[in-house]
Amino acid sequence: MQNVFITATDTDAGKTFVACALIHGLVKSGNKVSAYKPIAAGCQQVGNSLVNEDAKLLSEFANCKQTINEVNPIALIEAIAPHIAAARINRTISIEEVAQGFEKVLSLQADINLTEGAGGWRLPLSITATKASFLSDFAIDTKQDVILVVNMKLGCLNHALLTYQAIIADGLNCVAWIANNASEQPMSNLSENIASLEQLLPMPKIALLSFYHDSAMSLHDKICAAASEIDLTPLLTK
Ligand SMILES: Nc1ncnc2c1ncn2[C@@H]1O[C@H](COP(=O)(O)OP(=O)(O)OP(=O)(O)O)[C@@H](O)[C@H]1O
Ligand SMILES: [Mg+2]
Repeated sequence: MQNVFITATDTDAGKTFVACALIHGLVKSGNKVSAYKPIAAGCQQVGNSLVNEDAKLLSEFANCKQTINEVNPIALIEAIAPHIAAARINRTISIEEVAQGFEKVLSLQADINLTEGAGGWRLPLSITATKASFLSDFAIDTKQDVILVVNMKLGCLNHALLTYQAIIADGLNCVAWIANNASEQPMSNLSENIASLEQLLPMPKIALLSFYHDSAMSLHDKICAAASEIDLTPLLTK
């Protein structure tokens, strides 16, 4: 089983959009694909469950019949930094909890699992006077192959390079990157910025996704259209 971790230069960079597009492409190529969004801050109370939109979308695209709670075990109502959202309701988030949820996902024995991070690479899970733990520790412990989503906007060269360097310093393989236009107005000198990133980042760029602004198209259809723009070769040939 291949374990892929989707990280990004920042929050709102397009991790969910890209993860769902990747899942769609992998399912269409005949793979059994599971999804994991260990931590989500920003949920709605639906009956007894806290439901996060990212987790809902991921579970719709994956083909392992996972419950929303299996996709997203740590669900927090407030859309703020997860360790702060947890502290505000007197709970803590531990790396063990993230690992336990992942064990359940592994038991599904998919061909590929895609985990969506939260925020950027070095997302704090807990901070004490003596120790801090991060979601990247989970990626390290489980030896994930990382895909970096770069939101193409001013400042992205610095964010992309620092994120790549942190992933490599953590001993992980960054297998691909995706240039995403997550907002309607494209950044100025987009092609020059992409060319610079192609020179700075050694892994392959597997997509340049345009912003899908057609208001008549559902988000689901936009994701399916984006999927056809992604070169899945680095994932399918592993
Ligand atoms: N290429 C694109 N075309 C159209 N809409 C996009 C594109 N990329 C992202 N979006 C939209 O931009 C918003 C942010 O994207 P997304 O939710 O995937 O980011 P994220 O990195 O997962 O954010 P978070 O850190 O909150 O999980 C969403 O509404 C998403 O549908
Ligand atoms: Mg998301």
